[in-house]
Formats: sequence, C-alpha cells, structure tokens
Amino acid sequence: MDTLEELKIKGFIEEEVDPTLDLFSEIDRLKKEKNAVILAHYYQEPDIQDVADYIGDSLGLSQQAAKTDAAIIVFAGVHFMAETAKILSPEKKVLLPDLKAGCSLSDSCPPHLFAKFKERYPDHMVITYVNCTAELKAMSDIVCTSSNAVQIVNSLPKDQPIIFGPDRNLGRYVAQKTGRELVLWNGACMVHEIFSQQRILKLKQQHPEAKFIAHPECEEAVLAMADYIGSTTGLLKYTIENPALEFIVATESGIIHQMEKVNPDKVFIPAPPNNQCACNDCPHMKRNTLEKLYLCLKNEMPEIALPVDVIKKAQKPIERMLEISAQLGL
Ligand code: 13P
Ligand code: SF4
Repeated sequence: MDTLEELKIKGFIEEEVDPTLDLFSEIDRLKKEKNAVILAHYYQEPDIQDVADYIGDSLGLSQQAAKTDAAIIVFAGVHFMAETAKILSPEKKVLLPDLKAGCSLSDSCPPHLFAKFKERYPDHMVITYVNCTAELKAMSDIVCTSSNAVQIVNSLPKDQPIIFGPDRNLGRYVAQKTGRELVLWNGACMVHEIFSQQRILKLKQQHPEAKFIAHPECEEAVLAMADYIGSTTGLLKYTIENPALEFIVATESGIIHQMEKVNPDKVFIPAPPNNQCACNDCPHMKRNTLEKLYLCLKNEMPEIALPVDVIKKAQKPIERMLEISAQLGL
C-alpha cells in the first residue's frame, strides 16, 4: 500500500481492486462494519450519489456533518467541504477519497493575500462563502453558502460594512438582492464562469417552454436571463415544484442525475459553455470515483488533518452560520 508521503503526492490510494467485486455492496458492508457515513455533494458522479447516505448542497452537508453520530465521515466532495466537516466534528475521522479534489474558487483566494486585503478595511465584518480554505474561514466573522448568503448578509445591521469573498459573482448577486454595498474579493469558479450567454440564448429560442435555472456562482449576464437562481438544493426543489417539463440548467452537470431521478417525466438540458466541451463537469469534484471511495473507506485514508488553532478559529464563523440558518428554518 502507498506510504503517507506517496499518498500526499498522488492524493489517493493506488491499489489493485478485484474487478469482480461488487463495490456497492462492499462499500455498504464496510460502512456498517466501521460505523461510517458517506456524505456526497450533488456534483459527484451518479454511482457515488447512489451509494451515499446523504446527498446535498454545501449547507445540507455541513448540517449533516455537525450532527452525525458516525465514527467516520467519508466526504464525497472537495477538500474545503471535508475540512468544514472536520472543523464541525474534530473528534471524528474525516476521509476524502482524493486529497487533490480541490476547488478553483477556493484557490483564487490565498489566505496570506486575503489577510492583507482585510487589513485595508478594519471596520468591516468578513463574510466568507464556504468554498474557501479553513485558514480563510478562521479569518472570518461568518461563513455562508449559496443557499443562505442573502439571509446571512441581512442578519447584520444595515450600517455594518461587509467584506464578502471569495466569489465575486455570488457577492454581486447578494449585493443586488440585499441592496447593500459589499467589498468583494475578485474570485470565481471555473465551472460557473464558463457558460456562454449567446449559446444559452440560442438554446432558449430552440426550447421556448423551458425554464432557465442558474446557480448564483454564474456571471451577471447569465443570471440576468434566469427564471430561477438558487443553490443546488434550491435548483432541485424548483424542478420539482415548477410545472414546466423542460429545464436548461446552468450549474455543474452532476445535479442532473438527481433532477432526472426525482422528475422522470421532465427533460434537463445542461447549459452550454463558451468552448466546444459538451459537459459542465467540475474536474475537482470528478476526481473522486467509486473505486477511490471504496479504497478510502477500506484503508481509512486519506484523512483530513488540520491544525488545532485553525479548527478552533474556524468553528465560530461556521457555527454562527448554522445557528442563523436554524433560526430561519433553512
Ligand atoms: P452549493 O452546494 O451551495 O449549491 O454550491 C455549489 C458549489 O459550487 C459547490 O462547490
Ligand atoms: Fe469549486 Fe466550482 Fe468545482 Fe464548486 S464547481 S468545487 S466552486 S471549482
């Protein structure tokens, strides 16, 4: 088996897996044997979603990570999500099938540069979108996700100046929704900023009955065309509650698996990006595979480790977000 050093370099355990193994039942067996829970984001590949105990958006996953009584959390998502789970449940073993499952948005905000940025606005409170490193969370007053960002900003007094980071698109959207001026960090997600306004317009003309739905990480021009804007859970709910039979979906393609599962009679069309790639896959989310998930549960590695002081400092802003969300029934 790989040494710890090799694991750090590769990001995942490289081990022969017997091709005749039924990974679904093996994962199920190991889960029970080890008292483990599998939390998966909607952007994971369909097989991983199907084997998970809970599938959700970033807020739902944080809420689950905070309340689970399992001894091991296997986080089928990206690094910042597994870190959040570790911060909320530091006594638990938190595993990530591939340590290199990162996030371009999180990478767009290096903590040492953000610390300098923050120094320029000493009277501002800092709200950070959960898609950032644990170090950044440790520098924040409140964390938010795409499903509660508007409410978190509104929870602060009207005259309280705010820095919002790292996503400029979500930040701009929240500023518009709340009517407040926010100081924005200039970061973005590589998946959500690539949608093509022209190609979406064309697609809308070809499908005049279709509803166009978008994640708030998309650019302003794309959001301006949307019939509905929301987090992945919000988008999924909208497809259930809205009577339309066709939806053009501007977010990562993984969510379409759940949309099709719960709406077998409806059609979901991925919004086209501004290149010739046919898919809207997040390369970081898609680093996890069913095989890596199995190996990670079997070997209880790779594990998320964070310095104790970072955990302590990052806990408060995340817990504050969870408290506000609970008060508002989110
Ligand atoms: P939500 O899970 O809040 O919908 O955010 C999507 C995302 O980009 C996660 O990486
Ligand atoms: Fe990060 Fe974007 Fe991938 Fe979400 S979809 S994990 S924000 S790169």
